[in-house]
Amino acid sequence: MTEPAIKYRLIHQDKHTGARLGEIITPHGTYPTPMFMPVGTQASVKNISTRELKEMGAEFILGNTYHLWLRPGDELIAQAGGLHKFMNWDQPILTDSGGFQVFSLAGNRKLTEEGVTFRNHLNGDVMFLSPEKAMSIENNLGSDVMMSLDEAIPYFETYDYVKKSVERTSRWAERGLKAHRRPNDQGLFGIVQGAGFEKLRKQSAHDLVSLDFPGYAVGGLSVGESKIEMNRVLDFTTPLLPPTKPRYLMGVGSVDSLIDGAIRGIDMFDCVLPTRIGRKGTVMTHKGRLVIKNGKYKADFTPLDEDCDCYVCQNYTRAYIRHLFNANELLAQNFASYHNLYFLLKMMEELRVAIAHDAVLEFKEKVFSEYGFNAS
Ligand code: GUN
Ligand code: ZN
Repeated sequence: MTEPAIKYRLIHQDKHTGARLGEIITPHGTYPTPMFMPVGTQASVKNISTRELKEMGAEFILGNTYHLWLRPGDELIAQAGGLHKFMNWDQPILTDSGGFQVFSLAGNRKLTEEGVTFRNHLNGDVMFLSPEKAMSIENNLGSDVMMSLDEAIPYFETYDYVKKSVERTSRWAERGLKAHRRPNDQGLFGIVQGAGFEKLRKQSAHDLVSLDFPGYAVGGLSVGESKIEMNRVLDFTTPLLPPTKPRYLMGVGSVDSLIDGAIRGIDMFDCVLPTRIGRKGTVMTHKGRLVIKNGKYKADFTPLDEDCDCYVCQNYTRAYIRHLFNANELLAQNFASYHNLYFLLKMMEELRVAIAHDAVLEFKEKVFSEYGFNAS
C-alpha cells in the first residue's frame, strides 16, 4: 500500500457542536481546517495575482477541469509542468471534475452510462466527458485534490430520478478511481449526492465510503434550496462520512453558511461569491454587505471595513474605491475582490481559534448579530 496523497489530522473537536479543528496534509504542504478556498476557474482567481493570494493568507485554491480542458487544454498545461507551474502557485490546488459545469454551461447535453456528450460553450464543438476522461484531464493538470465526475441534478427532482442519478454517480466514482494514474501525488475525492432525500444521501455516502477515497465532498447543495434545507441535509450527511477524512462542502461561501457548515463538521469550502460580488462592487464587512457605488459613500473617507486590516482597508477609502467603480477603473475590481477574500479567510482563522476554545456557538452569535443575520 502506498501512502495516500491527501491525509487529514483532527486536532480538536468543539465540545458543543460538530465543528472540527484539523489539518489537511498535501504534496504542497499542510494547512489548517476549516478553510475557505478561493476559486480560480480558468487558472486565475479573477483580478487577483498569486502574490496577492499568498499575502492574504490563502491556502488551497480551485481550478476547473471543464474550463481548462477547453482552453488552453490540459495537454498544454502538462507541457508547462502542470497547473501549479503554469499559474505560479506552489500551494495546494483542488480541481472540480467538470460535471457541474457541463450541466450548467454546455449546450445540447446527452447523458448516457458512458458519460456526457455536449456542445462546448466556447465554439460549439461536440465533446464527450466520461469519468475516465475527467481523470485523464485532472492527472494532466496535476492538482493535489481531484474531484470525481458526478451528475449534477436540480434539487427538486423525484425520488426515483435522484436514486438513478446517485447510483450512476457511484458507478462513475468507481470508474474514476480505477482510471486514476497518480495516486501517489494526487488524491481523488468522492462526491455525495442525493438532493434532499436522507435515504439517498445514505446510499450515496455508503457506496463512496466503501470505495475508500482520501476525502469526501457533499455536492448538490446551494443550488436554490433554502439555508434551513441545506443545514438539514448536512445534519444527516456529515455523520455518514469517516471522521478520519476531510469533508468538503462544494460551492458554499456566504458568511452564515460557512459557520453553519463548520458546525456540522465540514472542513473545506469554496465559492465564487467573494470575487463575483466584489467585481460588481459589493463588499463584505463586519456589519454586513455594502454596495460601494451607493451615493452615500461619495465623501466617506473611512475604509471599506473599519475592522479589517487588509492592504486595501489600510490604504484606501470608500470614497476613492467608489470613484474607481464609477470611472470603470479595473483597479476597483482588484480592491473589492482582495478585501472580500481577505475578509473570509480571516473569518475562517477566527473560527478555527473559536473551535480550539470550544467557543463556536459564541463566535456564531457574535458574527451573526454583527452581520445582521438571525442566529437561530
Ligand atoms: N460545485 C458545486 N456543487 C457541485 C456538485 O454537486 N458537483 C460538482 N462536481 N461540483 C460542484
Ligand atoms: Zn479589508
